[in-house]
Amino acid sequence: MAPATLLLARLAVACALALGAMAQLSPTFYDASCPSLQAIVRAGMAAAVQQEPRMGASILRLFFHDCFVQGCDASVLLDDSPTLTGEKNAGPNANSLRGFEVIDSIKSQVEAACPGTVSCADILALAARDGVNLLSGPTWAVQLGRRDTRTASQSAANSNLPSPSSSAAALVSAFASKGLDSRDLVALSGAHTIGAARCATFRSRVYNDTNISAGFAAKRRQICQAQAGASDGNLAPLDAMSSVRFDNGYFRNLVAQFGLLHSDQELFGAGGGAVDSITAQYARNGAAFSRDFVTAVLKMGSIGPLTGSSGEIRANCRKPN
Ligand code: HEM
Ligand SMILES: *[C@@H]1O[C@H](CO)[C@@H](O)[C@H](O)[C@H]1NC(C)=O
Ligand SMILES: *[C@@H]1O[C@H](CO)[C@@H](O)[C@H](O)[C@H]1NC(C)=O
Repeated sequence: MAPATLLLARLAVACALALGAMAQLSPTFYDASCPSLQAIVRAGMAAAVQQEPRMGASILRLFFHDCFVQGCDASVLLDDSPTLTGEKNAGPNANSLRGFEVIDSIKSQVEAACPGTVSCADILALAARDGVNLLSGPTWAVQLGRRDTRTASQSAANSNLPSPSSSAAALVSAFASKGLDSRDLVALSGAHTIGAARCATFRSRVYNDTNISAGFAAKRRQICQAQAGASDGNLAPLDAMSSVRFDNGYFRNLVAQFGLLHSDQELFGAGGGAVDSITAQYARNGAAFSRDFVTAVLKMGSIGPLTGSSGEIRANCRKPN
């Protein structure tokens, strides 16, 4: 084949692979079997976010940590048991993930309306969408039809979830291994426009990085001691401007060297050409961020779903049936 033809053939294969998973999922999957599903999830998230706005962020993060480990199969929701080692105690998750009770409560209402019908993985995908939208972010039609895994992988949680000390190159490669490109990486990182991080995750950034606004670093050091210990759990907003508003403030912070995590700041100013220019674009243009976030979160939601007769519809999101 001529090089151009070969390139087109490769592109066709890549598109088919990317669309393959999405093709099996559908926004109308439960329209007949559970017509009240979306209203139940929305009301559950509205109540949770009203009580504590940060919960919108916490649920979005749960969805990310689900999808990056074995695909979006609700593996992250499984508790440890004598016969199963879950992911909740993996390094990136322990003392950090939150919102499990919110998913439990929504699941029990969905079970009451439509017993044995809706997967925990799909409830999480819907709840994440509603959390973003309730904090003034975009909305989108969630692809549905995922089923729940009977297994979890603590080791995959430790190796697949990127660390806050990651370089830009490491972030690009962690996302590439999930079929997500640099634009997806930067857009999805914009999730850090909401929510908070613990001192333990930003200590080295505010004490040892040089490319950080001096005033900002000094302020964060006030709540985060240099030595590990009592202040480890102290929280700071990931977006100092508006941590309960899903806007492009995260990117405006990055261009001003106000990134809270080392990995955040790696998306601007580290000399990583492509990611730098995407970050700068989103800092200027909130609509572009919003549009690309939707594209990227749909791609993330289509990572390795169990469909058809694979997996199961869990009765309780914390344990296999
Ligand atoms: C690019 C690589 C990423 C790294 C290294 C990273 C790392 C982190 C860390 C260290 C925290 C703070 C956790 C704590 O202190 O307990 C955090 C919080 C958070 N992350 Fe990420 N993250 C990344 C990407 C993402 C993505 C793709 C999403 C969702 C699409 C996301 C959503 C969130 C949210 C919403 C929070 C705040 C959670 C809360 O307040 O409960 N992150 N992330
Ligand atoms: C900062 O770097 C020094 C020298 O590498 C190291 O000893 C220290 O533990 C680091 N401090 C933090 C808070 O990461
Ligand atoms: C910031 O500085 C740290 C060391 O101080 C370096 O490792 C990192 O690559 C720099 N990042 C950016 C975004 O310039």
